[in-house]
Amino acid sequence: MNNPTKSLVTGSAGFLGSHLVDLLMKEGHEVIAIDNETNGRWDNLQQWMNNPRFKKVHQDILEIQPDDENFRHLDYVFHLAGIESPITSLKSPEIFYSTNVHGTVKVLQAARQSQLKKFLFAGSSAVYGDASTPTLETDAVGPLTPSCLTKLQAEEATFHWGNIFEFPTNSLRIFNSYGPRDHAKIYPNSVFSIWMQQKANAQPLTIVGDGSHARDFIYCTDVANAFLVTAKEGKDGEVYNIGSGRATTLNEITDRIKGKKTFIKNKEDEPNKTWADISKIQFDCNWQPRIPLESGVEFSLDVLEDWASGPLWDQKKLSHYFETWFEVYS
Ligand SMILES: NC(=O)c1ccc[n+]([C@@H]2O[C@H](COP(=O)([O-])OP(=O)(O)OC[C@H]3O[C@@H](n4cnc5c(N)ncnc54)[C@H](O)[C@@H]3O)[C@@H](O)[C@H]2O)c1
Repeated sequence: MNNPTKSLVTGSAGFLGSHLVDLLMKEGHEVIAIDNETNGRWDNLQQWMNNPRFKKVHQDILEIQPDDENFRHLDYVFHLAGIESPITSLKSPEIFYSTNVHGTVKVLQAARQSQLKKFLFAGSSAVYGDASTPTLETDAVGPLTPSCLTKLQAEEATFHWGNIFEFPTNSLRIFNSYGPRDHAKIYPNSVFSIWMQQKANAQPLTIVGDGSHARDFIYCTDVANAFLVTAKEGKDGEVYNIGSGRATTLNEITDRIKGKKTFIKNKEDEPNKTWADISKIQFDCNWQPRIPLESGVEFSLDVLEDWASGPLWDQKKLSHYFETWFEVYS
């Protein structure tokens, strides 16, 4: 993406979407930003509101029509609007199907109006379920909940539309991203944001399990950068893992955040470790994660007050929330 391009970003007011818009705008591209603030905040993009290269569109992706004028003459579509919450989806799967699957089809249909250089889907490492580690893109998928299943179905829809309507596609299977603007507004999905909200409210950090579980944590601007390099260099029709290539235990990351810890019971078969093999995107796109965990946590702590305003998922609320987990899997 060396020359200025016209891109449309769904989910742009959210955590990763807003970091991607920042990057596109800083590189001189034109951006159409769609979001309905289900979980995001237009405040995240306040810095671009008066820029003539930026257009804000407050819209539910389910209401996008195939002839939507915002989808004309585009070079790239970055489709990040979506919802993920494994536990909530066990009780209320319908909303995950409508937003993630039906919503993706709406975006794909409208995107057919443009001669796209690439359609990029924000996929999820959750599609792997309890995979062996480090996990490769060729490893078997095994979604454990309806939320994860809908991310896989939306990814498949993306490749299917790309094949039959002849536009290039990629899916980025994002592992645990973290960093500023990571807010758990509607569901307590992102463990990092739960801890930051607790820390900002001087509450103990809740760990599910004993803290020995490990996750592949990847800083938000590294993910934004991965979208950009994949748009340009990613091979058509390919899935790419987006992670740090390292598994960090929950104890290690909470030690860095600093604060008292409390522990609640975990489900016995919860995947012990997520850990991305990132050699494919390294090789195809020459992408490397740039921000080490210690810096990423520091950058996040620098804007701690930003988390104070969000809903607090304290120990009591989280224990109640996790009851569904045990009801379904007991
Ligand atoms: N953050 C991660 O670690 C992670 C990991 C795997 C996959 N992903 C995927 O990346 C994408 C972005 O995730 P995020 O962490 O930035 O989440 P986020 O909730 O901050 O961003 C998603 C955005 O989509 C918007 N949205 C939801 N439903 C919508 C609808 N019907 N119409 C319009 N907008 C809608 C929300 O308001 C929000 O701003 C999601 O698709 C998510 O599944 C994220």
